Amino acid sequence: MTAKIVMMPGDGIGPDIANEAERVLDALGEHHGLDYRLERVDVGGAAIDATGDPLPEASLEAARDADAVLFGAIGGPKWDAQPRDKRPESGLLKLRSELGLFANLRPAMLFPQLADSSALKAELVADLDILIVRELTGGIYFGQPAGTDTSANGQREAYNTMRYDVSEIRRIGEAALKAAQARGGRLCSVDKANVLHVSQLWRDVMNELAGDYPDVALTHMYVDNAAMQLVREPNQFDTVVTGNLFGDILSDTAAMLTGSIGMLPSASLDAAGKGMYEPVHGSAPDIAGRDAANPLAMILSVAMMCRYSLGRGDLADRVESAVGRVLDSGLRTADIADGAKATSGTAATGQAVANMLG
Ligand code: IPM
Ligand code: MG
Repeated sequence: MTAKIVMMPGDGIGPDIANEAERVLDALGEHHGLDYRLERVDVGGAAIDATGDPLPEASLEAARDADAVLFGAIGGPKWDAQPRDKRPESGLLKLRSELGLFANLRPAMLFPQLADSSALKAELVADLDILIVRELTGGIYFGQPAGTDTSANGQREAYNTMRYDVSEIRRIGEAALKAAQARGGRLCSVDKANVLHVSQLWRDVMNELAGDYPDVALTHMYVDNAAMQLVREPNQFDTVVTGNLFGDILSDTAAMLTGSIGMLPSASLDAAGKGMYEPVHGSAPDIAGRDAANPLAMILSVAMMCRYSLGRGDLADRVESAVGRVLDSGLRTADIADGAKATSGTAATGQAVANMLG
């Protein structure tokens, strides 16, 4: 069956890395029998420029119709002054919500070839391999009421609501327990149950669910402590599950432990395993179009797509191994050159991975 893949390059370096993902898909098609059809559609600032809408209906329809979506990056100073619903970020949030992509998997693993890139001492991050499971379509990002107002004493005020119901917690909890089961068997649920009602509910539901997974050791941690523990002793973590906002923050911290945010892919999945795959890094407008961006996070997102949405774990393994061998060969874009001069650009790095797949 021909897989329908939608590519949303987006803004900044998004198009640069999207080209390299396509190069890798070409190689998978040509040499390893990946049967797919690719359609490119606009999202983010590029879509605002073209249509005035960060997620035009046609792009959303294409994504709904696809088996998987590859997403580059969005945003940039050009659109920062737009009203909130016309910012590039709104396109991404709407896409997550409309496609029901509630489970966001953000691995933070250290490539041994890049051990010196971490801001932490090498012995603290040796063999680092954490999976953060972030709830992506609820919590304070989407909770109502939200808005701006005038308070009783005539001041401008603004508010958002952190809200989860039991079913939302259950589905992300189950996804995380299953992920932990398939990994190291340890799950740390992160919340702020010492202060927030919503976190107490989160904790209660996690405890209930854990009864059905006797082979997973569930622990709980307050989010402030988790932020500290991630940089103090990261290897204590295996799988982490948390809500939307805490997951946003902790996944950036975890990414930086690897020293190379340019290397990290992510998957956002719905209940049926359909997914959107995107690098964890942003749109880096300062280096856009200059053949300087690291395409490996995007290429590793292609690997995650093969594994989780296309049923081709074999291809995922091949791509991941090709990336490792490209690093072994010494090719480095600036972000992973450890302060030295880059030895490769975006296109040459993508081409090198494609060659390894030949
Ligand atoms: C992320 C980003 C987004 C988020 C922004 C761009 C809306 O920071 O994917 O982590 O906050 O979820
Ligand atoms: Mg973020």
